[in-house]
Amino acid sequence: MSAPTPVLEVEDLRVRLRTPRGPADVVNGLSYSVGPGETVAVVGESGSGKSVSVLALLGLLPRGVATVTGRALLQGEDLLTMPPERLRQVRGPGAGMVFQDPMTSLNPVLTIGRQLVEGLRAHSDMDKAAARRRAAELLGEVGLPDPDGALDRYPHELSGGMRQRVIIAIALSNSPALLIADEATTALDVTVQAQIIDLVEKLQADHGTGVIWITHDLGVVAGIADRVLVMYGGRCVEDGTVDDVLEHPAHPYTRGLLGALPDLAQPAVDGVVPDLATVPGTPPAPTDLPPGCVFWPRCPVRGDARCETEQPPLVQIGPSSGALPHRAATWCTETSALGTESSGEAR
Ligand SMILES: Nc1ncnc2c1ncn2[C@@H]1O[C@H](COP(=O)(O)OP(=O)(O)OP(=O)(O)O)[C@@H](O)[C@H]1O
Ligand SMILES: [Mg+2]
Repeated sequence: MSAPTPVLEVEDLRVRLRTPRGPADVVNGLSYSVGPGETVAVVGESGSGKSVSVLALLGLLPRGVATVTGRALLQGEDLLTMPPERLRQVRGPGAGMVFQDPMTSLNPVLTIGRQLVEGLRAHSDMDKAAARRRAAELLGEVGLPDPDGALDRYPHELSGGMRQRVIIAIALSNSPALLIADEATTALDVTVQAQIIDLVEKLQADHGTGVIWITHDLGVVAGIADRVLVMYGGRCVEDGTVDDVLEHPAHPYTRGLLGALPDLAQPAVDGVVPDLATVPGTPPAPTDLPPGCVFWPRCPVRGDARCETEQPPLVQIGPSSGALPHRAATWCTETSALGTESSGEAR
């Protein structure tokens, strides 16, 4: 049986931003796909390009500042060359997004109810009363107390966690083909977080929604992801099934994040790593990326001159536990000895 058509196929995505310090290459050749019902977790420390890479997909980076190239097929249509009016139609039923900063996603002068009802009616033939009932139902599903009362309140009348749940309700309201969640549940307590994750999983089961979940919470990654993409310096340095990446991390950076490299980070306590570990040192500035391995300046196991001067391709690094290859971009000998070239392939 052939693999189902991906919901999203990203090929060689690159984002360059104009900054006062010159051009900043913040996303440098990302290629990945999200299948129907699949969850891809994106991890990496602050500034690695996670948010910019998904904002670029939906045309949400400031115009005149960002240059985006590559391809991003959402159900076969390229988001990167889509006319703006088509992109507006696609946001919602095609792709829903929960932003990292909830205040920027809600209109402060409109009630919660109006924002939800407008979103629901723009993409369906629901009348106002039906949309209002559905809006209250959605707020209940994301665990908001008194959903009917919340419909008539303004964003500033809600707590940060409540606003975040409203944004999640809006993103889920049109049962999107693709859901992008950027630290969507980070600010919520664990019970609400579990409730939201259940809701997303139900959406995936009912509608085959593909999910990109950006998080630093490894418990969430282990619990919900089918595959993991590790970003560093705007590149994918490792990807594969969640089992391959979490249990057999190959890139020294991934091993640092997972606390699996004792020299680099603190080891896990009783095998449980609830959050990404801290890797000593600072990430490279996107205006000044190193010519070789992007992790070289911080790498505790770096090898010969090649690490410093030659960029390692993203290659398959050995047998995989699932249908997906396990790939890493490193010259680290333990892994590259097993390597077979697969860089730049569309998947
Ligand atoms: N509008 C902008 N103008 C200039 N530089 C920007 C802009 N937005 C992001 N950047 C830069 O792009 C890089 C990637 O930022 P991004 O927000 O994608 O990081 P991130 O991986 O999402 O980090 P975090 O975990 O902190 O959310 C950073 O170096 C950031 O400073
Ligand atoms: Mg971010």
